[in-house]
Amino acid sequence: MSNDDWMRRSLKAVWHPCTQMRHHEGGGTLPPLPLLPVLRGEGAWLYDFEGRRYLDGISSWWTNLFGHANPRINAALREQLERLEHVMLAGFTHRGAIELAERLSALTDGALGHAFYASDGASAVEIALKMSCHYWRNLGEPEKNRFLCLEGSYHGETVGALAVTDIALYRDAYAPLVRQADIAPSPDARKAVSGESAVDVARRAAFGLEEKLRAEAGRVAALIVEPLVQGASGMAMHDPEYLRLVRALCDRYGAHLICDEIAVGFGRAGTFFAHEEAGIRPDLLCLSKGISGGYLPLSVVLCRDGIYKAFYAEDTGRGFLHSHSYTGNALACSAALATLDIFVEDDVINANRVKAEKLFASISSLSAHPAVSNLRARGMICAFDVTCADPDFSRRFYRAALEREVLLRPIGNTVYLMPPYIVSDDEIGQLGSVAKEALAEALAAG
Ligand SMILES: Cc1ncc(COP(=O)(O)O)c(C=O)c1O
Repeated sequence: MSNDDWMRRSLKAVWHPCTQMRHHEGGGTLPPLPLLPVLRGEGAWLYDFEGRRYLDGISSWWTNLFGHANPRINAALREQLERLEHVMLAGFTHRGAIELAERLSALTDGALGHAFYASDGASAVEIALKMSCHYWRNLGEPEKNRFLCLEGSYHGETVGALAVTDIALYRDAYAPLVRQADIAPSPDARKAVSGESAVDVARRAAFGLEEKLRAEAGRVAALIVEPLVQGASGMAMHDPEYLRLVRALCDRYGAHLICDEIAVGFGRAGTFFAHEEAGIRPDLLCLSKGISGGYLPLSVVLCRDGIYKAFYAEDTGRGFLHSHSYTGNALACSAALATLDIFVEDDVINANRVKAEKLFASISSLSAHPAVSNLRARGMICAFDVTCADPDFSRRFYRAALEREVLLRPIGNTVYLMPPYIVSDDEIGQLGSVAKEALAEALAAG
């Protein structure tokens, strides 16, 4: 079957995520947005049914770390498949779930001693919020049930996660369902006014946060942040100083600090966990995406032992009675363990330092481009903003890049590169040059 056949069948039967389906059929001044049927993946590349290939410049929604069809992860999965595919995690346990929890805890130097598994990022966020609120209830402080999130935050799209998400496009249609959290000022370094540094912006935002905490004293269960990079609102980056200040404020006002590292964990922002860059530890840490190397849905919330202990009692109602059927899936855990092995065997965090510099160098000449601003990088994420009044800029750019065999999907007017860590120097060069060509084409058409 051809690409077209698959595309037609998909459009008839599949409701695709985060998509206005009408855009695949064209309309207005824009031709139809392509829907690409993928036959197979290899390394940083995705192949369609007619032999055309696409360089995965955004790691398939930020999940893939070591390439598609990675031989080492494949081997681990094959072996696991012969032993156990899945078992419920209530009343049962298995080697993968145990070893993964132990290894993740060790990676926090034991600060976060227990792992609660789930499947997707949003479900981990729901768990962290519920855990925090229930913790305070168990401690006899049920009035601590409010949350604080940051301006421009994104924590997923289930109803609970939307309550701490500040992106109108995803949230507003569901406002009647959502118990909106209070929103603290963004530490986004782009907010610097003349003479201000990123650290100054961080301090200003922390000051605004303190005002909120003071006003809501005794009612805030937790603050949730995306450490270092707020991804979905357009790769907004802040100084690690913000996290240090936030940690101190949460301690002072008796609120949990939830770090949502679903996008930035597993080396994406440079250090293995993004919060390490600030020398702090959260009370609750949400992980997903890269955890399984981009293979299988898996998420986890790591928590401090003090939180775990507040649920430990004879009374069933004090327990954390949350579950998902596929919690701690054995195949997903084996992919995650193989992923952790690769980090150790290939000294990935150090190797990425060199790669990250090359990635940034591939687009650094854009700093002179009149329509480009805020060229920025943090670990294996590079981004820039484009001044362009055309509301269809992002769709035009996406199409222009695909025509050049590269998958880059701007968020509004922010273009970003976030390739798998196995990307080669040549492929980095290709990402950079296609980003520049697609920019020129999208601007010319807009
Ligand atoms: C910071 C952050 N939190 C939560 C999520 C939601 O994860 P999922 O899409 O797996 O539900 C995302 C997804 O992009 C994210 O970037």
